[in-house]
Amino acid sequence: MRTPLVAGNWKMHGSQAQTKVLIEGITRETTSFHGVEILLLPPFVYLSLARSFIANTPLHLGAQNVYVGDHGAFTGEVSASMLADMGCEYVLIGHSERRTIFKEDLTLTAKKFKTAVEANLKPILCVGETQKERESGATQLVIQEQILSIIEMVEIAQWNQTVIAYEPVWAIGTGLTATPQAAEEVHRFIRELIAQNNVDLAKTMRILYGGSMKPDNASALLAMPNIDGGLIGGASLDVASFTNICAAANQAQTPANAH
Ligand code: PGA
Repeated sequence: MRTPLVAGNWKMHGSQAQTKVLIEGITRETTSFHGVEILLLPPFVYLSLARSFIANTPLHLGAQNVYVGDHGAFTGEVSASMLADMGCEYVLIGHSERRTIFKEDLTLTAKKFKTAVEANLKPILCVGETQKERESGATQLVIQEQILSIIEMVEIAQWNQTVIAYEPVWAIGTGLTATPQAAEEVHRFIRELIAQNNVDLAKTMRILYGGSMKPDNASALLAMPNIDGGLIGGASLDVASFTNICAAANQAQTPANAH
């Protein structure tokens, strides 16, 4: 069995007060959930505060980004060892907003993945196609390139802590969601691609769906055999919405041999 993972990507939202409200509320509403791992990804500046509220709860902490290199003259950047030092367990790598708004290419993304792995952080590698790529039938090609470019830099034997998040770019923050069947098709493709490189890893690797996952569509998505959780943006900023998605994941069945 793969334990579902629900990750709240706060993006550039929040405040000290909201950090407290969200974490206290999520802790309160999820105490009885033993079948789901819940992860919060606040902005860098709130990591320390979030860590203090998360202490003594089952919640996990991670960051939204990392820079390559351990330390040095990189004004404004944060290294993997700093994240580990602040209690981060996970880090997002290659979110589509990093790839498009900040022009982070395949090589930089792969270097970031390598940096995370070397610092013992668990990477959540985000992949996904744009609307135009989907319409031109290039979805699988795009995702294959995004994954293989990482495998070229970090051999698959080092991927055992990795989570992949399939986030169709056209579904992020738009209210549009891939149908459970369309998402499942891509998740199965990703699992098969990993299986071509490492059969055992493919069975245990969690593949999350992200892109307008909400309480009303979460159960149907999470019921798919190859969808092992969610990467939640907008709905992670509201205690009720986020914890309802966590509840759906807590009930979901994800047989390890599905693909
Ligand atoms: P969304 O964002 O849930 O607001 O679509 C998901 C993400 O970008 O991780």
